Amino acid sequence: MYFIGIDIGTTSVKLLTIDEGGSVVQSAVRDYPISFPRALWSEQNPEDWWIKTIDGLKEMITGLDREEIKAVSFSGQMHGLVVLDEMDQVIRPAILWNDQRTEKECKYLNEEIGQEIISDWTGNLALTGFTAPKLLWLRENEPENFARIKKIMLPKDYVAYKMSGAFATDLSDASGTLYLDVKNREWSKPMLKLLEISEEQLPKLYESFQPIGTMQKELAAELGLNEDVRVVIGGGDQAVAAVGGGVVETNACSLSLGTSGVVFASTEQFFVDEKNSLHSFCHANGKYHQMGVTLAAAASLKWWVEEVNRSEDFDGLLKEAEEAGIDDQVFFLPYLMGERTPHNDPYCRGTFIGMNLTHQRKHLTRAVLEGVAFSLRDTFEIMKSMGIGISRISINGGGAKSKLWCSIISDVLNVEVVKLNSNEGPAYGAAILAAVGYGLFDTVESACDKFVKITETIKPDALRAALYDQKYEMFREIYPAAKDLFKKLTKTV
Ligand code: XUL
Repeated sequence: MYFIGIDIGTTSVKLLTIDEGGSVVQSAVRDYPISFPRALWSEQNPEDWWIKTIDGLKEMITGLDREEIKAVSFSGQMHGLVVLDEMDQVIRPAILWNDQRTEKECKYLNEEIGQEIISDWTGNLALTGFTAPKLLWLRENEPENFARIKKIMLPKDYVAYKMSGAFATDLSDASGTLYLDVKNREWSKPMLKLLEISEEQLPKLYESFQPIGTMQKELAAELGLNEDVRVVIGGGDQAVAAVGGGVVETNACSLSLGTSGVVFASTEQFFVDEKNSLHSFCHANGKYHQMGVTLAAAASLKWWVEEVNRSEDFDGLLKEAEEAGIDDQVFFLPYLMGERTPHNDPYCRGTFIGMNLTHQRKHLTRAVLEGVAFSLRDTFEIMKSMGIGISRISINGGGAKSKLWCSIISDVLNVEVVKLNSNEGPAYGAAILAAVGYGLFDTVESACDKFVKITETIKPDALRAALYDQKYEMFREIYPAAKDLFKKLTKTV
């Protein structure tokens, strides 16, 4: 039996097929364009997602015994606003998660309606990336488009709709809309009222591992597949990547060291931390999760190596950084793209501080690696303060290829860091959800237990962890000291 996972990412669609033992047997990737029509805007054409998905699917299933393909599921870039009219035509390009046009709308939600109320209704605060502020923007700036809306959906839901004909979404992805009542796992009635939308315009809510139907007949015929291939809804990319990394048991935790850095903890219950600094979302296993985001993680290292040092020699610079050892003087704040967690501050900036004439490039490179680790520790500390007892973190993403960075993270967080056999990310998690939705497993947990295995363990060193504890205390003092200056800098540009 084969199960297909499809990840509708920001730059490409990634597809893979696993067999019933969890091994990847085929994969395909198709890129699509992203457009930035104005400063702060980021958009995509939903039709591109669909065309490229089918194109990649055709390539991937060539050579497979098609009779054996049993189910398909999805992972998707979260928060994107897709709107269809009564003819099921896309009304305007999708407004994506990294679009920043909604500062005014977020201010209105967080300040005029008030953070406490928004958090009470949805479990989260308004962030520029989330979907609800985008709907407010559309209502205000494109009222004729807003008036035509018959269906509102998220990126992967559009592809699932075209594939199955079912107007559906799942709770993990819906959590990032800011119009889901995350705690009660239903649409938030007061938010819908505020946005002037109705439940009929929204998709039916499912758990991520639930089937929403089967593949449409003509499509199955075109692909040479059985008509009863199940379409399982899948989830938001972070939750589905966590499934792919086996982060589904209570208090299991993962750290993704990609362009951005994400600390993700799977929880049994719904929680909101004191300041609601973390995202409180539904998980793809039917439970909940907490998540904090460092916007420029590997992006900080890439900037330092490629833009500042004009080098491609990542290995060389990292080797130097290893030789530098822990220096207690030099710090780097990784806020090159502003910051989500814990500051929720689009104005904050990247900063080096503490150098004197003895410092060399190697110290600064190490400070970049440490600064990202300290920022991730900010999220980790909030999780610990909420009583989430984390004893081990599974690490993934491009940055995790560096042994030094993994060991710095293990020492800074003072926790065991593990690497896994499955490093395929969200598309692998989606294939697991397809297998669960087909009925190969009763639960997402049992599927992960069978498919995901530890391949490497990195333990923290007590001496280095103690040194980093002291350094982290200093790191935490820098942002409050520089905060007002960052805001002034932005105003002068
Ligand atoms: C999650 C988030 C990203 C996007 C794009 O909150 O903003 O993970 O889903 O990958």
